[in-house]
Amino acid sequence: MSEALVLGIESTCDETGVGIVRGCELLVDRTATSMDQYARYGGIIPEIASRAHLESFLPTLDSALEEAGVTLKEIDAIGVAAGPGLVGSLTVGICAAKALASALGKPLYGVNHIIGHLAVDKLADGPLPQRFVGLVVSGGHSNILLVEDIATDVKELGGTLDDAAGEAFDKVGRLLELPYPGGPHVDRLSQLGNVDAIRFPRGLASGKDKERHKYDFSFSGLKTAVARYIEGAQARGEEFSPEDVCAGFSEAVNDSLTSKAVRAALDTGCSSIVVGGGFSANSRLRSLLSARAEAAGIEVRMPPLRFCTDNGAQIAALTSELVRAGVAPSDWDFSPDSSMALTHPSVLPR
Ligand code: KG4
Ligand code: ZN
Repeated sequence: MSEALVLGIESTCDETGVGIVRGCELLVDRTATSMDQYARYGGIIPEIASRAHLESFLPTLDSALEEAGVTLKEIDAIGVAAGPGLVGSLTVGICAAKALASALGKPLYGVNHIIGHLAVDKLADGPLPQRFVGLVVSGGHSNILLVEDIATDVKELGGTLDDAAGEAFDKVGRLLELPYPGGPHVDRLSQLGNVDAIRFPRGLASGKDKERHKYDFSFSGLKTAVARYIEGAQARGEEFSPEDVCAGFSEAVNDSLTSKAVRAALDTGCSSIVVGGGFSANSRLRSLLSARAEAAGIEVRMPPLRFCTDNGAQIAALTSELVRAGVAPSDWDFSPDSSMALTHPSVLPR
């Protein structure tokens, strides 16, 4: 029997995403974004994002269906991001998904968009390994997960104690007066700098912290060290190289992320690491993780860049895994969960 045709809807932050997936096959992935409205604020304004979802949803859905050559009646199941994310943004997607599922008489799954960042990899690299270590790195999350079964059994091994990797990059971008969001700009400059010029501290890397927080991250001390470095140079009237600052900073973040992910895979006997989230676009993360994992005999699966930022395909990809595993659809009355636990791939019925 062929796999279910699944529609995925994503509206956790500034992207309105609609994707259609059958098993590991992607039929379409359409995204509208309101990011260009936030440059002058230096951060996302939730009310603007919610309104943009409302305006973009139906046009995005229509164009996705048209491109895929699929009618709504042919869809077997609908998945929508239930969290984590901005409540107002999530509400728009969830309302739309409930209306569609109810009118069409289709099962509806409220799913975890962070687990979706890992599930999307199957669209690029084929069926997911049965068990793997997931490294989720985004503007809001930096987590190491032990995925025993992506539909039913996800454990959290560790996460950031303060800033997420993308958030830390955005803050350093602000210190260097780069446009928002700073992450990609800091990445670009870091590739032009000398990685050995400035050694910034690694969080949780020594003493008791090293054992107690084996798979956790901390980037706020690092961010402060970067701020001190810049302030110090300015106070002394010295020129400094933003490229070298970015290179040293990027190396410190990625040293922590990659060494802990590889360690988690070795400790849990997993032979694969799957990476997901907007920060997985980072060039140094990609090169350092590939090199370290290869040296440890571990396969790394990193989706192409277009799948790294929030998108509807990731929601459809995870929903198709839930359908395949026979997980029950969510109840009709589920709500957005801005801090949805990473151990919950979907909202289970009561
Ligand atoms: O997953 P995502 O699209 O949104 C959520 O946070 O859910 O991730 C966006 C984050 C932002 O902080 C952005 O600056 C960062 O990922 N980012 C990068 C790069 N591309 C995006 N950070 C560093 N290097 C990049 N190349
Ligand atoms: Zn995300």
